Amino acid sequence: MDSILVRGGAELSGDIPIAGAKNACLTLMPATLLSEEPLTLTNAPRLSDIRTMTELLASLGAEVTQLQDGQVLAMSSHDIHNRTADYDIVRKMRASILVLGPLLARCGEAKVSLPGGCAIGARPVDLHLRGLEALGARLDLKDGYVHASAPGGLKGAEIAFPLVSVGATENVLMAAVLAKGTTVLRNAAREPEIVDLAHCLRKMGARIEGEGTPDITVEGVDRLHGATHPVVPDRIELGTYMLAPAIAGGTVECLGGRLDLVAAFAEKLAEAGIDVEETPRGLKVARRNGRVRAVDVETAPFPGFPTDLQAQMMALMCTAEGVSVLEETIFENRFMHAPELMRMGADIDVAGGTATVTGVGRLKGAPVMATDLRASVSLILAGLAAEGETRVNRVYHLDRGYEHVVRKLSGVGASIERVHGE
Ligand code: UD1
Repeated sequence: MDSILVRGGAELSGDIPIAGAKNACLTLMPATLLSEEPLTLTNAPRLSDIRTMTELLASLGAEVTQLQDGQVLAMSSHDIHNRTADYDIVRKMRASILVLGPLLARCGEAKVSLPGGCAIGARPVDLHLRGLEALGARLDLKDGYVHASAPGGLKGAEIAFPLVSVGATENVLMAAVLAKGTTVLRNAAREPEIVDLAHCLRKMGARIEGEGTPDITVEGVDRLHGATHPVVPDRIELGTYMLAPAIAGGTVECLGGRLDLVAAFAEKLAEAGIDVEETPRGLKVARRNGRVRAVDVETAPFPGFPTDLQAQMMALMCTAEGVSVLEETIFENRFMHAPELMRMGADIDVAGGTATVTGVGRLKGAPVMATDLRASVSLILAGLAAEGETRVNRVYHLDRGYEHVVRKLSGVGASIERVHGE
């Protein structure tokens, strides 16, 4: 198996281009199922999760053609000949559940394997299912699959989510655009990926208002048409690379980065003593003097501090001056990077959803591994700041969510290489 070898200590300087958002692309792709006409996405990231979604859509009968080295996805769902999302694909990627709403809305039925638990928690899909039921779907859970049907079509309804869920908001929103009448989603997620999805659906002819607020209103239409849509920049990749000069020292300009996508995170960086500046090309981040200061962080749905940047922020706090308290409020088991960071000399105390990190100044390189995407990249960041060599194993997690991580970081002067395993 491949691993990534990082030699710490190099100051960083230069540009890192930010790709289109993985999580936005994973919800925009199933939107192709809503229309017989083509949907083309530009600025798509080149990632294994995108290949998994391509495989899933193809298994349903959609055609997905990669153009311009995978940055353009030309999709057509003229003929949907299969309405079953198979266990073998869904188990690889939880976001597969996002085909449920569109398939049901377009075909009147769908059978989708239920995603199991995952490394960062139980992650149920009950809110997706309750939302679709509210739109009139009949659901039957059998043999690990959800069988959904709406023979007479879906009907608009008012749905109040008991907690904020990005995936449930996306699934129900996609179903509602073809439902009869008005749907109101209350306590909807406000993430930029939801806003991007709403923009794309509107280009396809959907009638949506209120995206980016907790209340989204949808007037159902009979059919959607084709469209071309650029995927919003990846705020998590952006935040990750903003942390690279923060932890290693130096200055990096993240090309295409936007402050509105990472405002709460950027505020914390500023509090820690990092300079963040908007430029015509993106965001410039610099650590000019000494150690960063410890700051406390609590994860929250957007516009709060993203859970997907908690592991990377913890890596920075391991090197900070003082004690920082990190509270994870979204997922119940999202500190698996802590013991790995401790193998690198970090001082971390985890109790339930709270991690208390006492900064140690310099970390020490070590062989490490992680069980999820963001945890893996936090170890790479830690390696940039560590004395000696850090070998990050289980690189396939990174391939799911970070395109060209080695090229991007070595391009700004990091000593990092991919070692091909047997
Ligand atoms: C999405 C992102 C993921 C990010 C997360 C939170 C994608 C592909 N993934 O995941 O990277 O970490 O948002 O920002 O976009 N929940 C329920 N029942 C449900 C659905 C969710 O209890 O039916 C709970 C979850 O277990 C979790 C919380 O709600 O505790 C938020 O999860 P959710 O926002 O749905 O995350 P995802 O959409 O799975």
